[in-house]
Amino acid sequence: MDLDHVSDDLTHVLYSQADIERRLAEVGAQIDRDYAGRELLLVGVLNGAVMVMADLSRAMRSHCEMDWMAISSYGSGTQSSGVVRILKDLNTDISGRDVLVVEDIIDTGLTLSYLMSNLQSREPASLEIMTMFRKPEALQNPIDVKYVGFDIPNEFVVGYGLDYAGRYRNLNGVGTLAPHVYS
Ligand code: IMP
Repeated sequence: MDLDHVSDDLTHVLYSQADIERRLAEVGAQIDRDYAGRELLLVGVLNGAVMVMADLSRAMRSHCEMDWMAISSYGSGTQSSGVVRILKDLNTDISGRDVLVVEDIIDTGLTLSYLMSNLQSREPASLEIMTMFRKPEALQNPIDVKYVGFDIPNEFVVGYGLDYAGRYRNLNGVGTLAPHVYS
């Protein structure tokens, strides 16, 4: 779905499909260089990371494997609570593997902190993070994020995998949700 189709629900567009494609080409090339000669396991966090996982992996030129985790972050509406439960675990044993967690967005970083300590306990050879979007508040938490698509303002955004109440994930770009939609 094009951003134009929901323009009444957005206060503004942050990034178009073309902006995202351009940035992922750069990040994909960087990952290829950083992991040259090693076979990376990309771990996507469902549901939001579906789009970035599909596009990032195709922007890469090296072989990689993919696996998925589903977690529920308790909280409602537009606030994250940081209380996390694993709904679907990995099918892959990651011990001794080079793992790159692929995320849609880091807001407070609470969800990812939990996930990273959980994955670290499985003793991967390396464990890094790629996120498509990162909000300023995330910078206050001590999570080392190796690859960031875009740093964005502290607003609730939708599209490119990011939802509000289950909708807007299938937008081809990202925009700020208008307050009238959630207030
Ligand atoms: P955190 O734990 O605060 O970093 O939040 C992480 C999760 O909250 C993300 O994986 C998203 O599912 C959701 N989230 C945070 N900010 C937004 C947003 O602006 N739009 C849609 N979902 C968001």
